[in-house]
Amino acid sequence: MKIDGTPWRTLWPIDDGRAVAIIDQTLLPHRFETRELHSLEAAAEAIATMRVRGAPLIGATAAYGLALGLREDPSDAGLRRARERLLATRPTASNLAWALRRIIPAVQALPEAQRFDAAFARAGALCDEDVAINEAIGDHGLGVIRDLLAARGDDGPFHILTHCNAGWLATVDWGTALAPIYKAFDAGIDVHVWVDETRPRNQGAALTAWELAAHGVPHDVIVDNAGGHLMQHGQVDLVITGTDRTVRSGDVCNKIGTYLKALAARDNGVPFYVALPGPTIDWALADGVRDIPIEERDPREVTHIQGLDEDGGVLREVRLTPPGVSARNFAFDVTPARLVTGLITERGVCEASEAGLLGLYPDGAFEAGAA
Ligand code: MRU
Repeated sequence: MKIDGTPWRTLWPIDDGRAVAIIDQTLLPHRFETRELHSLEAAAEAIATMRVRGAPLIGATAAYGLALGLREDPSDAGLRRARERLLATRPTASNLAWALRRIIPAVQALPEAQRFDAAFARAGALCDEDVAINEAIGDHGLGVIRDLLAARGDDGPFHILTHCNAGWLATVDWGTALAPIYKAFDAGIDVHVWVDETRPRNQGAALTAWELAAHGVPHDVIVDNAGGHLMQHGQVDLVITGTDRTVRSGDVCNKIGTYLKALAARDNGVPFYVALPGPTIDWALADGVRDIPIEERDPREVTHIQGLDEDGGVLREVRLTPPGVSARNFAFDVTPARLVTGLITERGVCEASEAGLLGLYPDGAFEAGAA
């Protein structure tokens, strides 16, 4: 996507293919800074601290992290160490393990001297694939928007609510849930986005609002609890979110609070769609609520908040709660398939069910067996 007319991706190779650079998302929207990753440890740190985040971008960064690990130690032991380190960063999104599964067997078959270059090239190919996948999600999602608009029968603003950030910052480019919105906006549809702030890390208020503004898409940031009220008053035509892991039954795991939006959408007859790339599907699991590991992060993300001190122009963290309070920080929740109107994938739109997913991904049955 473009920032001030310049095209950007969220990570890109540097140093003649010996390292990568990222946009440091912990500083957005207040400061736009890039950061170089020269080692496995730097890549793992960037994922764990959410300098990069969003399921597809976590996978892409892990792919490069694996390559950087092989530059440091191309042995089988080095490969195992890199894999373990990366898998320990964030447990919920499928894409991280998927990216490693994609690359490890291919490089392990090579002599040690060739492993780094091969892994780095494969990470680059995986990034290009992510961009193509997300653009295709945008095209299929645009079809959903056009159908809903036609059924509504007027050409007033089309209001879409989204949760967290599933835009280009969460992927290599385009985004998943925001890709259909960009496509609709570019096609001249009068689209307006309700942006959930997404406590505690505020990916909506900070990241989604920033990227929608950069593209010129009309939007309003709302507090996380406002969505139900807006739906009751006919102010939401469609909810689209991303997902970190989708199991074979069609249950979807996404940023904490997504489930409550799905409940409110069902109560108000608002279509609730989830946009996902194939690599987010975990074919080995069937019951999302029971089986998906939910990341629990540092309670400090709940008790404290970061923002720009407009007096000094500096980023500051301030405490929200009484000192010493006990807090818990569950990062994701699971929305059961029965609450999901449809899944928007790079291969088309399907029902949130095993039959729906297998209709688009007949190879999924094989992957489940291989997992
Ligand atoms: O904790 P985050 O910011 O990595 O969570 C991101 C989300 O929940 C996204 O909706 C999800 O990864 C899909 S991104 C295309």
